[in-house]
Amino acid sequence: MAASQPSPASQRTLGSYYTPSDIAHTLTAWALQDNIGPVLDPSYGICRFLAAAVDVLADASVRRPARLVHGVDIDAEATTESTDALLRRGASSVQFVHKDFFSILPDARFAAVIGNPPYVRHHWQSVEVKAAAASAMEDAGVALSRRASLWAPFLVHADRFVRHDGRLAMLLPGAALQARYASAVWKHLACRYAHLTLVRVGERAFPDALEETVIVLADRRQDRSRRVPLMVEVPTFAALAQSLAEEDSALTLRRRGQRLERSRSTLTTARLLQIAAQHQAATRLGTIARVRIGTVTGANAFFVRAVDDDLLHSVGLDEVAQVVPGSRSMTGVRWTHLDDARVAAAGARCRMLCLSGGDEMSVPMSAAIAAAEKEGIHETSHCSRREPWWAIQPGSLPDAFLAYMAGEAKGIVTNALGARSLNGVHGLAWLVPDASGYLVSTWTSLWALAVEQTARHYAGGVLKLEPGAISALPVILHEDDLALVRLDEVLRQEGLRAARQLADRLVLEETLGFSEHQVRTLQAFVLQMMERRSPSIRALRNADT
Ligand SMILES: C[S@@+](CC[C@H](N)C(=O)[O-])C[C@H]1O[C@@H](n2cnc3c(N)ncnc32)[C@H](O)[C@@H]1O
Repeated sequence: MAASQPSPASQRTLGSYYTPSDIAHTLTAWALQDNIGPVLDPSYGICRFLAAAVDVLADASVRRPARLVHGVDIDAEATTESTDALLRRGASSVQFVHKDFFSILPDARFAAVIGNPPYVRHHWQSVEVKAAAASAMEDAGVALSRRASLWAPFLVHADRFVRHDGRLAMLLPGAALQARYASAVWKHLACRYAHLTLVRVGERAFPDALEETVIVLADRRQDRSRRVPLMVEVPTFAALAQSLAEEDSALTLRRRGQRLERSRSTLTTARLLQIAAQHQAATRLGTIARVRIGTVTGANAFFVRAVDDDLLHSVGLDEVAQVVPGSRSMTGVRWTHLDDARVAAAGARCRMLCLSGGDEMSVPMSAAIAAAEKEGIHETSHCSRREPWWAIQPGSLPDAFLAYMAGEAKGIVTNALGARSLNGVHGLAWLVPDASGYLVSTWTSLWALAVEQTARHYAGGVLKLEPGAISALPVILHEDDLALVRLDEVLRQEGLRAARQLADRLVLEETLGFSEHQVRTLQAFVLQMMERRSPSIRALRNADT
């Protein structure tokens, strides 16, 4: 497949993604099963479907099978080589037309119309094709949004070439189930076939395109039908091929596939998460960072103090560590000296005693230790494991922080100060040099969704993120140093929702190529999950509006 892939420019303007031969064969075999006759691929590209049709027809013992296949494609050049191969198998050149498909008048004489129409966004469509498509839609009596991707009018026009009782089978993008404009297409086709099935396949047909695949299987063209479309999901193309090979394939799909009507948004978002995780810019957090629980003192009241605590003046400077007092105090994407000054001024306990255990202990410190021992602090489980119990050795400085428990999924915060964290905030140590390039992605809705799905839920709707679970979360590389600075500003000044919107735009739309619609779906779904977990979030949202 890779050898014959077209240039990025023709992928954009002509939607030239050529279908892998095995997938083309699956759809073609279904379309021609007990339905032998002329076949049309209205955007035949490099003959993947037409070559499959010749094979299927030959297997069905049709005489001169190559004479039954017909193709239309606007791009004569790209088709030449593969068309020559079909000519050598007995086809005639009149079977191949090089024109805009919308300029061809409908002729309902084909037993099967098959293929993979061009997915070309509205603003990449040429003026001529747009006008021809609009006029074809008018002829077909379908009010289709002018912003629709080209596959939609293509499908409506293609249907007009299918003969009575014939079939239509095509490979479509995920928008076929997601985009609002698509419903006009399905409403139109559902009235024209005895069965209309839309199958979402949980596997990508084009490894280099971030596109879900939906297969439309329209069976037995009628003048009038009152069926509603069946929507199912199957995990792989192999599973689809297996179901379609059965005698009553619609029934088999209904039995084996997962029905989509009710679980639509769940499946869409799960799929988006899966697509993101498979992207070349993605990896798991565990591959770029080691996640550790912050320091467990065993007695924070003794070890962790406010800056104005007199006891801090009686110990050496190197025996006091700056600490992030808790996940709620992390209001930006970086923990800086200004954050430390802010929490210190507010009286937060943000200094931890890390006594070295040497001989020269100050009098006030010795007195404080004696008082603590009188209270039995030294016998608590964590303290009793240390020797002496008051000598905390916090280990290496973390490179970044992440909340352990939170009401809402938050992202990773870099440690610009050289602070430490307590057990409410995890410390992260980078394992790769460019790890900070992944940080923006942890402020996206995708990350929030992954956290919602992975974290344990506590009373009151609190999320608890264990280090092992966090390590499996997907992160995406977005190399733009300024992005972190902007994100930090937005998070501090406008809050988490605004920061998430910015991160979504940068990472989900720009890096992963998600559509605005897909991003909105994710954002809405994350909110829904939060609301389900915590009624107080709903109250917050109502207060926002
Ligand atoms: C997604 S490719 C599919 C090719 C082939 N059916 C396959 O599955 O391998 C889309 C094809 O549509 C063709 N195309 C784009 N706009 C067209 C139009 N207005 N009329 C006819 N063909 C068009 C492109 O040249 C390209 O070959």
